[in-house]
Amino acid sequence: MVKTPLLWDTHCHLQDKHFRDDLEETIERAKEMGVIGVIIPGWDYESSVSAIEISRRYENIYAAVGFHPHDSKNYDEEKLLSILDHEKIVAIGEIGLDFYRNLSPVETQKTVFRRQLRIAEERGLPVIIHTREALEQTVEIVKGFNVKGVFHAFTGSEEDAKEILELGFYVGIGGVLTFKNARLPEVVKSIPLDRILLETDAPYITPHPHRGKRNEPAYLVYVFNKLCDVLGLPHAELGKILIKNTLEVFRIETEGTH
Ligand code: NI
Repeated sequence: MVKTPLLWDTHCHLQDKHFRDDLEETIERAKEMGVIGVIIPGWDYESSVSAIEISRRYENIYAAVGFHPHDSKNYDEEKLLSILDHEKIVAIGEIGLDFYRNLSPVETQKTVFRRQLRIAEERGLPVIIHTREALEQTVEIVKGFNVKGVFHAFTGSEEDAKEILELGFYVGIGGVLTFKNARLPEVVKSIPLDRILLETDAPYITPHPHRGKRNEPAYLVYVFNKLCDVLGLPHAELGKILIKNTLEVFRIETEGTH
């Protein structure tokens, strides 16, 4: 086993039903692998509430709250605002546009995305953005707001990355980096080190060599090791940069990292 420096999983759905039976063990396994911090994004009201509930119980676990584009048809702003004051909330997310699956009507997705960007702007919170087959429209909408944050689960081209970087956003890199034939390893070289965040998106997007199984935060090390290989950087050096990025974008102050 490769020894890794301390890592943060900046996008992990620990409130998902796939972790219901072994949440404690999952968090323990992550810690053993050096993954000491986790950010749990919500996708609707209930999942945002459970993200907060889990984050309350652990020192380096934080929550993001919001309505995913799939769930924007159920958007309830009053309920969202009612939970927004918790001290463990570090972002609004995950929010955005998904024109691949279109599980909510396009216009609803856009409206709900704008409303949540407005809330983030007013509260001075960063945003965690999900975009699929909708990068142009997403960038256009984000431009209208004074917000920063991350485009999570990035798999796009160098040009796509450039658009995100020009917005001043970070790029979330996950399991796809480890997939055979992925173009992401080449693309990631074009992203400045101080704009990269690591994530698993667990229980989804399981990295090689565990593809096909449930993803979990401990597997972040596979993404991290691959990123070190691709960029030709020592683990300790890259680890430090990634932690710095994470704590900066989510404005986390912690004694668990140094
Ligand atoms: Ni997600």
